[in-house]
Amino acid sequence: MKSVISILDLSTDEIDDLVRTAGKIIQRPQDYSGICKGLKLATLFFEPSTRTRLSFEAAMYELGGNVLSVAGADTSSAAKGESIRDTALTVSCYADIIAMRHPKEGAPLVASSAATVPVINAGDGGHNHPTQTLADLLTIHREKGRFSGLTIGLCGDLKFGRTVHSLIQAMSRYPDNRFVLISPEELKLPSYVKKDVLQAQGVPYEQTTDLVGAMPDLDILYMTRVQRERFFNEEDYLRLKDSYILDMRKMAYARPDMSVMHPLPRVNEISVEVDSDPRACYFKQVLNGKYMRMALILYLLREVGKVEY
Ligand code: CP
Repeated sequence: MKSVISILDLSTDEIDDLVRTAGKIIQRPQDYSGICKGLKLATLFFEPSTRTRLSFEAAMYELGGNVLSVAGADTSSAAKGESIRDTALTVSCYADIIAMRHPKEGAPLVASSAATVPVINAGDGGHNHPTQTLADLLTIHREKGRFSGLTIGLCGDLKFGRTVHSLIQAMSRYPDNRFVLISPEELKLPSYVKKDVLQAQGVPYEQTTDLVGAMPDLDILYMTRVQRERFFNEEDYLRLKDSYILDMRKMAYARPDMSVMHPLPRVNEISVEVDSDPRACYFKQVLNGKYMRMALILYLLREVGKVEY
């Protein structure tokens, strides 16, 4: 049974298929509004979320299905010490598909090996966030019309930023992409991502601390938040949190067609004044996330023979 724990669990053909389905849903939502009638999605979120949990739930409701939700680590029997395996086996008795967010890296993988229904990783620690990447991919497709030949700047917390790790995995599979990794020394991309993904596939990249210097080359600037919850000490967080703040003064160095992306939530790293610039795409990403989660739910439920479309 197919689960999606990493973006690499989906081939580029499958991603093309999901992008096509999302496009059809956007064009004719009424054709999809009853497909999941009688089916249930369980959202198990052991870490805070606004976009991912609510977009999964909105996605299932818009497909005509229902939702069971655990929102918060303290509101399920995980707080009593129940294992991820037992939780996954239990929820499989109630739901047809599970979306799980967990602070521990690998938790959704453990859940998928025990569950009897498909499991989707909705973010595990500083590791992966494949459905954010699906939202990012649909946004790139709609803004740029292609997945190849792009110079992508990734800026901020590249060490703990799970959305960055998943996006690099995804975009490295398409030809002629190039990455500019913009971060403070302490928040550089982990060497396992550089070695196992970028170097292993011969994808060109450069590392810099200079956002303004990198701007003129970029087709896409993907900003990220410095993640307070991943730091071991508050002093380091306070020192690094405002390393990069994108404002209209810096935007003057960007191409007229550069797209600014951010998985959100933001704290200070993009000034609110940038929101009204036509290059700002981050709220489009939010909406695209719902459509891609609809497409993914349909795809995984079709794989187990529960829906037809
Ligand atoms: N982008 C994202 O994962 O947002 P949430 O943490 O609000 O789900």
